[in-house]
Amino acid sequence: MSLVCLMDFQAQARERLSKSSWDFIDGGADESITRDDNIAALRKIRLRPRYLRNVSEVDTRTTIQGEEISAPICISPTAFHCITWPDGEMSTARAAQAANICYITSTYSSCALEDIVATAPRGLRWFQLYVQSDWELNKQLIQRVESLGFKALVITVDAPVIGKRRQDIRNQLDLQKNLMLKDLQSPTERNSAPCVQLDPISSSFCWNKLSWLQSITRLPIILKGILTKEDAELAVKHNVQGIIVSNHGGRQLDEVLASIDALPEVVAAVNGKFEVYLDGGIRTGNDVLKALALGAKCIFLGRPILWGLACKGERGVQEVLNILKSEFHTSMSLAGCRSVSEINRDLIQFSRL
Ligand code: FNR
Ligand code: LAC
Repeated sequence: MSLVCLMDFQAQARERLSKSSWDFIDGGADESITRDDNIAALRKIRLRPRYLRNVSEVDTRTTIQGEEISAPICISPTAFHCITWPDGEMSTARAAQAANICYITSTYSSCALEDIVATAPRGLRWFQLYVQSDWELNKQLIQRVESLGFKALVITVDAPVIGKRRQDIRNQLDLQKNLMLKDLQSPTERNSAPCVQLDPISSSFCWNKLSWLQSITRLPIILKGILTKEDAELAVKHNVQGIIVSNHGGRQLDEVLASIDALPEVVAAVNGKFEVYLDGGIRTGNDVLKALALGAKCIFLGRPILWGLACKGERGVQEVLNILKSEFHTSMSLAGCRSVSEINRDLIQFSRL
């Protein structure tokens, strides 16, 4: 089967993976209403193209936190890439470097951070931190991440506890048994200790502890998982450098609004003070165009990257990124946008929303 769009990778990944691995990747929390809404809400939006604008040269490049990327299409943090491909995150990192986009590496990486960096030393990387209940561990992790050249700290805020994924329970999925969470171990521990606790996320982390994190790092801090103007206003007050509007791909609190539906109110509340990004349900070039038109500076992909890995490893991730970039280029051309700075709200037909 030829793979021409991201959903083709989805179908093939499903065939290739074991049932429990597929279910882990695909799953949403509870009824998976939000997971499905992320996609349905994007599909409801209609576009208002402009023509006769000379689109013989279309430039998809942009910047995030001051760094240039080849297109506003980057990689969300997802756990345990070794479930889908033997060298997991190392393949992802090489593909991201080749595509010249940003790869947010998860706290729950199945490869060591040092190895991920060594295999793709020129790649732009941010680190996603699940704030640990052990403060000393947070400090050590942040220092390690800084010295390894990660350019931002992404704090995931929507997972004070892990959502209930029914299929994982039915499958009796026990990731701890099969995988080493090497990045939570210091380099010296790595070869001896077999495993660390899988669920050490701090459920007591809150706004007034954010300043402690800010005091121990010089990296920009980006909050991932904000969905409301109230929290966006608090983020502005607390001087963070960015927000990723996200509902964790519908894996945490079910029945929250689709990411694309939350985007406009967050963008309005932030009012240009820092960059706002989005993930959740992005599958086509038009989806990217819509998210940018509604104010996102860049989008991030979760599951599609894992589909690419499951199908063909590094090459699969490269193909997923290239296909989406090419679709986005076509969407821009057909909508009359020569550069990403020309993408704005006039592209969206609001009367239908
Ligand atoms: C995730 N996500 C996630 N987020 C995070 O901050 N840290 C993590 O370790 C993980 N792990 C993870 C594993 C898997 C298998 C999935 C599917 C998702 C959420 C992820 O970053 C992102 O928000 C969503 O996946 C985006 O939605 P799409 O692109 O999958 O629709
Ligand atoms: C997940 C956690 C690990 O979504 O973030 O599976």
